[in-house]
This record gives sequence, C-alpha cells and structure tokens, in this order.
Amino acid sequence: MSTPPRQKRLTPADILALKGNCPVVSLTAYTTPMARLLDPHCDFLLVGDSLGMVLYGMDTTVGVTMEMMIAHGQAVMRGVSRACVIIDMPFGSYQESKEQAFRSAARIMKETGCDGVKLEGGAEMAETVAFLVERGIPVLGHVGLMPQQVNTSGGYRSKGHSEKEADKIRRDARAIDEAGAFAIVIEGTVEPLARDISGSVSAATIGIGASPACDGQILVSDDMLGLFNDFKPRFVKHYAELAQVISKAAEDYAGEVRTRAFPGPEHTFQPRPKS
Ligand code: KIV
Repeated sequence: MSTPPRQKRLTPADILALKGNCPVVSLTAYTTPMARLLDPHCDFLLVGDSLGMVLYGMDTTVGVTMEMMIAHGQAVMRGVSRACVIIDMPFGSYQESKEQAFRSAARIMKETGCDGVKLEGGAEMAETVAFLVERGIPVLGHVGLMPQQVNTSGGYRSKGHSEKEADKIRRDARAIDEAGAFAIVIEGTVEPLARDISGSVSAATIGIGASPACDGQILVSDDMLGLFNDFKPRFVKHYAELAQVISKAAEDYAGEVRTRAFPGPEHTFQPRPKS
C-alpha cells in the first residue's frame, strides 16, 4: 500500500489560510483504519504522543519514543488522501538543542512523509521553532497545559487562572507565533485567555479545553468516540459511546461461542461437491 500523492492533501499553509475564514477541524489518529475514517472530515490529523496513554496504557506521554511516533506516523500516512498530517515530537527528542530538534524532526518527516511536526513549549522553544521553520520544517506549537511537562508543572490542571500564569501563556504563544509556527495548540486554559491569544497571533490557534473562539478545535479521537468509560474530562464531548458498543459486541460473541451458536453454517467452509 503506497502513500497517496502529496499534491492532493492539505498543507500547513492551507491550514493557516483557514484562519479568519473557516474553523479548522482536527482529530488525533494513530492507525491506518482510523485515519481512513477521519480523513474525509478533518483538515489535519495529529499523530499525537497521547498514543502512549491511549494505545499503550502509559500513565503519561513521557515514555513515548521516536520509534513509536514514526511507526504510527507511517500507519496514518497510509490512510489519508485529503488531510494534512502532523506528528508529535516525543519528549526528549527536541528539548536539548535546536540541532537535536532538527535531526529528530527531519527523521520524522523523511521516514513518514508527514507534513509537519508538533512540539510543546513556549518562549524557551522559540529559537528552536524558528530554526526548524527556516530549514523547511512546518511547526505546530503547543502552549498552556503541556502534557510532557506534567512532572514539573503540577499535573493535568487547567492553566491561566492567575494573572501571572495567564501572562506567561500569552508570552509563550506570542513567542511561538513570532518564531513562525503555522498553528498553535492551546490546551487546557481559561476561556478568555485562549480567546485573547487567538485574536492577537497570526498563527491559527487550535483549541482543546480552550475556547470556541480558537481558529480550530482538536480532540483525542478515542475520547470523543467514548472509548473510555472511566475518563471524561470537562472539555471532552462524546459523539458516540463506542465503549458500550464494543462491550456489548464482545458479550454477544462470548455468549454465542459458549452456546455454539457461532459459527453458523454460513461462516464455515463445506467440502466442494465431487465432480
Ligand atoms: O498528543 C496529543 O494528542 C495532543 C493533542 C491532545 C493536542 O497533543
């Protein structure tokens, strides 16, 4: 199976051009079949490092590796024909220096064929973002609640409640914008702050737990599909209840196997009549 031709899919520049025109639609995707299902409806798909928690059951995203991101990035690329694809840079692959970030980002782009990378961080990452953009790598920034910093930032709590914290997030977004990011994810911030940032940066802002005034929205697909019974943060809306659907299907299957109702004659191969 080959990757569809590049020119048919949206680019980071197309995503930026939607700012002020039409809200950007984005979801996470980690596999080929899911990418195929989401592709017709989304402007960009994010191969998020949330896959560490969603697919691999990790407690945080800190343990996610380059190899995991590249393997899932390749899988998603095989499933898209319209959406732009952005891949998260995992923790430890870019924070050390701008040169390390370039090496990691270039590897992700070359080995997957994706359209750009995402990295978390504010003012402290601005020089790195500019370094990548100047060298041909489109960057999606990520400010506010930054899951890779969960060990130093006091956990998964919403941000920007104090004026000091709000000011820092504002400065972070401005720095990443000035560094040339085509878009910036704003995660888990108080609503007026996300609204304010969206109106003051030239990059497209992509909200998650942020504001309807952002230039677009993103959710983790598995969250919005209702695949987790025990996890529903305030910012997630369920557009389906797949956990129930899957449990019921598994229960029905188990019942039919135990009563020998499955497989039926239509599911078995009978010997061909002898000629
Ligand atoms: O890793 C991820 O899926 C993300 C989104 C939630 C924005 O960063």
